[in-house]
Amino acid sequence: MFGHGMGIIQLLILFGCIICVLGSNISTYRGLHDFVFKDYDAEIQPMPTDNGTLNIDVMFHLFAFNSFNEVEGVLSLVGAISFFWTDESLIWNKTLFDGIEQIIVPQSKVWTPKIILVNGADTLAWIGSDSSFNVQITNSGSLIWTPGSVLNAKCSVDVLKFPFDSHSCKLLLSGFGYHDTLRLLPISATTENSHLILSQQWELESTSVEVDLEHQSSFEVVINFKRKPVYYTVLVFTPTAVLALLNPLIFLLPIECGERLSFGMTILLSYMVFLTLVSDKIPTTSNPMSFMVIYIILLFVTSAFITMCNIINMKLYGSNESEVTRFQRCFISSCSKYRQKDSMLDVSEQKKKPTTKDFVRILDKIYVFFFYSTILIIFVAYLTVTAL
Ligand SMILES: *[C@@H]1O[C@H](CO)[C@@H](O)[C@H](O)[C@H]1NC(C)=O
Ligand SMILES: *[C@@H]1O[C@H](CO)[C@@H](O)[C@H](O)[C@H]1NC(C)=O
Ligand SMILES: *[C@@H]1O[C@H](CO)[C@@H](O)[C@H](O)[C@H]1NC(C)=O
Repeated sequence: MFGHGMGIIQLLILFGCIICVLGSNISTYRGLHDFVFKDYDAEIQPMPTDNGTLNIDVMFHLFAFNSFNEVEGVLSLVGAISFFWTDESLIWNKTLFDGIEQIIVPQSKVWTPKIILVNGADTLAWIGSDSSFNVQITNSGSLIWTPGSVLNAKCSVDVLKFPFDSHSCKLLLSGFGYHDTLRLLPISATTENSHLILSQQWELESTSVEVDLEHQSSFEVVINFKRKPVYYTVLVFTPTAVLALLNPLIFLLPIECGERLSFGMTILLSYMVFLTLVSDKIPTTSNPMSFMVIYIILLFVTSAFITMCNIINMKLYGSNESEVTRFQRCFISSCSKYRQKDSMLDVSEQKKKPTTKDFVRILDKIYVFFFYSTILIIFVAYLTVTAL
């Protein structure tokens, strides 16, 4: 029936385990069950052990990092919390029950702490109340209960350094309504888990469990994570940088060819595409704004100025006045002074009367230099603030 010998061995091990748990004899197990739960009421809280408070040790297990919605500020995790406490009314003498040391019962049979995720994003429900988890009881009266759930928590979002942003999200878990008769003590500082499933978009930096100093019946799970920035760097930063470097080149095109304006407008509109791409990922009320949005807006404004200067130059070039104004003549001659040093050939040309076209050509060169400097400053400023 079984294709492989392994199947039978595994089956035997499985049966062996079931027998271990149940004890050697099913009627002993039944007897134990009757003995333990005869006078037990699951609604009554176990007797406090320490000066009026019941101490419960807690441990947080992170199984999967589902998603983080940065627009709405909701972190979704799959996690479980282990609770360890002792209940003196659940003690038995194991020698009387064939040495049975532990039993496993559904959570409805015993009292369990009612904990809620205070900063939950959708419902305010007891953790583990929507399904039935098992409780492990040992003969010394210690209980272990590990309810698990998909936890959706509200977090504040800071996208200032998008796409190099990192977030710290706190899950506040509280024993609501116990009025500090219950003390939750995190027993592990970290929440290490080898089965952790990570997100494609986010990198988990660290997780920790902290005591809530104000309320002893609460504790906090802190999840630190950061965005993997490669996608947005490749998809947004690189194309906008290339567009920005192309943009001042329009002043090198001959004015006569008439393509200057459409080239400038195309680049101007391309920025809007990237701005839309980024703004989809950023909360609409974000305060402060992301550096990346400011960077694209600055490039957009620079591009608009380039288009404006281009139109003014085309207007000057196309005007019929061949005579230059006094200001323009001064301008041309001051620029030419530098040139004279470079080559003596220019001297003969200087003798000719300067025209508006000469003025426009000089302006074009100045614009190329000026706008490349502006764009370089924007790049350096953006890279500096994001690297900090
Ligand atoms: C189970 O154990 C009880 C007492 O420990 C004994 O009387 C009974 O015969 C056992 N039953 C089986 C099926 O072994
Ligand atoms: C127990 O509680 C009382 C009153 O709240 C307090 O004065 C006392 O210091 C507590 N003892 C311990 C050991 O915490
Ligand atoms: C458990 O039961 C055995 C047998 O009746 C007895 O000798 C032993 O003292 C008991 N242990 C406790 C802790 O009561």
